[in-house]
Amino acid sequence: MPSTTVRIGLIGAGGIAGAHIAGYLRNPGTVTFAAVADPVREAADLRAGDTGAAVYADYATMLAEADIDAVDICLPHHLHKDAIVAAARAGKHILCEKPLCLTPEEAAEVDAAVTAAGVTLMCAHNQLFLPAVAKAKELIDTGVLGHVYEVRTTDSFFNDFDPSNMGWRSHAATSGGGELIDTGYHPTYLLLHLAGGSPVEVTAMLATHRLLFMEGEDSAQLLVRFDNGVIGSLVTSWAYQPADGTEKFSVVGELGSLTSDGLSLSYRRRGDAAPTMVELPPVHEFEAEIGHFARSILAGTRPLHTQKEGIQVLGIILAAYESARDRTIAPVRSVGELVGSGPQPD
Ligand SMILES: NC(=O)c1ccc[n+]([C@@H]2O[C@H](COP(=O)([O-])OP(=O)(O)OC[C@H]3O[C@@H](n4cnc5c(N)ncnc54)[C@H](O)[C@@H]3O)[C@@H](O)[C@H]2O)c1
Repeated sequence: MPSTTVRIGLIGAGGIAGAHIAGYLRNPGTVTFAAVADPVREAADLRAGDTGAAVYADYATMLAEADIDAVDICLPHHLHKDAIVAAARAGKHILCEKPLCLTPEEAAEVDAAVTAAGVTLMCAHNQLFLPAVAKAKELIDTGVLGHVYEVRTTDSFFNDFDPSNMGWRSHAATSGGGELIDTGYHPTYLLLHLAGGSPVEVTAMLATHRLLFMEGEDSAQLLVRFDNGVIGSLVTSWAYQPADGTEKFSVVGELGSLTSDGLSLSYRRRGDAAPTMVELPPVHEFEAEIGHFARSILAGTRPLHTQKEGIQVLGIILAAYESARDRTIAPVRSVGELVGSGPQPD
């Protein structure tokens, strides 16, 4: 392990890889973009550009040959688990795009491999690095809102996918479901982060409003009960733009509330004449995310979300699918239940 930078090997050189590479290049003091693996040579060459990163056709060879400390997994969803396990067995730290993996069996394999290897896995939950989210968490944790009752999150947009450009995302076997386990992962980890407890039960309604060619849903609405009493509600969609004024997230507690569109944040305590607007610095989300990953590796500290939170988010989503299928309130399996009887991740 070099003392100054984390040497990263990128696995998967598609759409989101560009944002991750921007994150590497904005962290020159802590990150070196050392290698990239993708069977599509043009994609790998395009992402390597003039950075000097070594190009590989497959990640097994990269893991065996490249001088890297960590991998950054930017693959289609059904390929995440195998790449995590291979990287852990090769002793590499791991940054993995959402979703961590797709099933309880995969979660068990991921957790066992990462734990046995003693490597760090960070879930690439980029929206946690929005200053508005960090400020909201601080306001909650310092008691400004008192005991929290309700958290709402929304992540919806008009997606112009069609069957010709949707690729692996239109099939449940490769995406793991529909919109909820894809874009819906973002408002789910945000809900988990802001609620602060462990999820207990979920009820969900799924819909396919517009992207009728998808095997899975294009929209979902969830209610989630947490063990600390918080009730979360979540709306996510590829079918439509939310109505004007819809917040990205909001929190209500015994002493007041906060609301954010993701860029700005205001809060109001009961009795205040007007809301307090919070000044927030501009941020490059992926610079912040990659920087956090690198610092966690270099300092040996726990990243904000490890496989533990990745598995908790998966637990909420699997319970939502079960709830929608059975038209009931579904229990959320704990991390221990999802990974089996072994030790729970820290
Ligand atoms: N955080 C976000 O906002 C965000 C946005 C988009 C995508 N994502 C996530 O990023 C991941 C990738 O999505 P994308 O949009 O970049 O997909 P994509 O289809 O654009 O790219 C996937 C890449 O993986 C490559 N690939 C396939 N099999 C491979 C293998 N065995 N080894 C190496 N490379 C292989 C493909 O050739 C392709 O270049 C997904 O998990 C997705 O959910 C996150």
